[in-house]
Amino acid sequence: LEKLNGIELPAAADMHVHLRDGDMTELVVPTIRQGGVNTVFVMPNLVPPITTVHHALEYQKRLQGLEPNVKFLMSLYLHPNISPDTVKEAKKAGIAGIKSYPHGVTTHSDHGVMSYEEFYPVFEEMERQDMVLNLHGELPPSAGADITVLNAEEAFLPTLLDLHRRFPKLRIILEHCTSAAAIKAVKSCGDTVAGTITAHHMFIIVDDWAGDPHCFCKPVAKNPSDRKALLETAISGHPKFFLGTDSAPHPAKSKRADKVAAGVFTQPHAVGIIMSALQQGIELGVLTEDDVTKEKLEGFLCKFGRDFYRVKDDKQEKIMLKLGSQAIAESLTSADGSFEVIPFRRGKMTWGTHFI
Ligand code: NCD
Ligand code: DOR
Ligand code: ZN
Ligand code: ZN
Repeated sequence: LEKLNGIELPAAADMHVHLRDGDMTELVVPTIRQGGVNTVFVMPNLVPPITTVHHALEYQKRLQGLEPNVKFLMSLYLHPNISPDTVKEAKKAGIAGIKSYPHGVTTHSDHGVMSYEEFYPVFEEMERQDMVLNLHGELPPSAGADITVLNAEEAFLPTLLDLHRRFPKLRIILEHCTSAAAIKAVKSCGDTVAGTITAHHMFIIVDDWAGDPHCFCKPVAKNPSDRKALLETAISGHPKFFLGTDSAPHPAKSKRADKVAAGVFTQPHAVGIIMSALQQGIELGVLTEDDVTKEKLEGFLCKFGRDFYRVKDDKQEKIMLKLGSQAIAESLTSADGSFEVIPFRRGKMTWGTHFI
């Protein structure tokens, strides 16, 4: 990919990030721009989850205070606290979306959705107000069902199609697509349905997280054929698919514990790792050099996400890509030294992304 060394792109938009609370926020937020990103869509799965407009705005203010040069798009956590009136209030306050976590599938999802039906009045109002519904698309395990981490996403797809059929004008994002089946399902829907793709799912497969907690996340990385579909889709120029890293930092102690926390931390090199993943895709023979063009990259990293959320790139900032010029840290340490976070591909070289 030497032909892309030195190219300039608009600053990237990362439409799925976990910025956490407390000291972790202070550690993570300064790494957003380092990764070539100036616009983020922030997940609401704090403890307790963000279920009120007041909480979301307070959080946004704190984030903005830590980093005035990033645009923080905010979300609420779909929860019985949220009524159609909350949706109206959220829209007025500029909140961009509402994220639904199925009950019990991932980090802090104990308050997640058990039945979508109970939220139909909320979805109806969201459709009217033109707010985005962000889906964590995994079917929860249930007694007797043949569902595991490997097929939970595919088993969720009928739910996506059903919601789209009931609410055809509701803008829906199937977050962190990990399978060829998910890509196909999103493509089969109308223009109101889009999908995000992470950097790490373009990189890894089952064998990588089986044995390495720093590659373990939900939904888990799947088969080589799934990774191939993600790589091809990301540089296909299809406007329904855009970057959402799902960067999800956890203290190293939780990643190395008996019960491993799910989440891969990619924020400090968000764009760099995408470039490295594409490079690996070429080495694996999944992509060709010619497939990866500046124009396709710009769509996936910079344009399609902003278009879907209808955010203007008002500052028109630019980044420059530099092949293999950045070393990924072995770890990041919190300000008071009380915890560490281990980045994805620690110690390796990746593409640099400098604001110019
Ligand atoms: C919540 C829980 O476990 O129910 N934890 C908490 O309130 N301390 C998790 C959550 O809020 O998602
Ligand atoms: O791996 C994950 N980590 N998946 C999620 O959906 C949540 C996230 C987190 O918050 O850690
Ligand atoms: Zn999720
Ligand atoms: Zn997430």
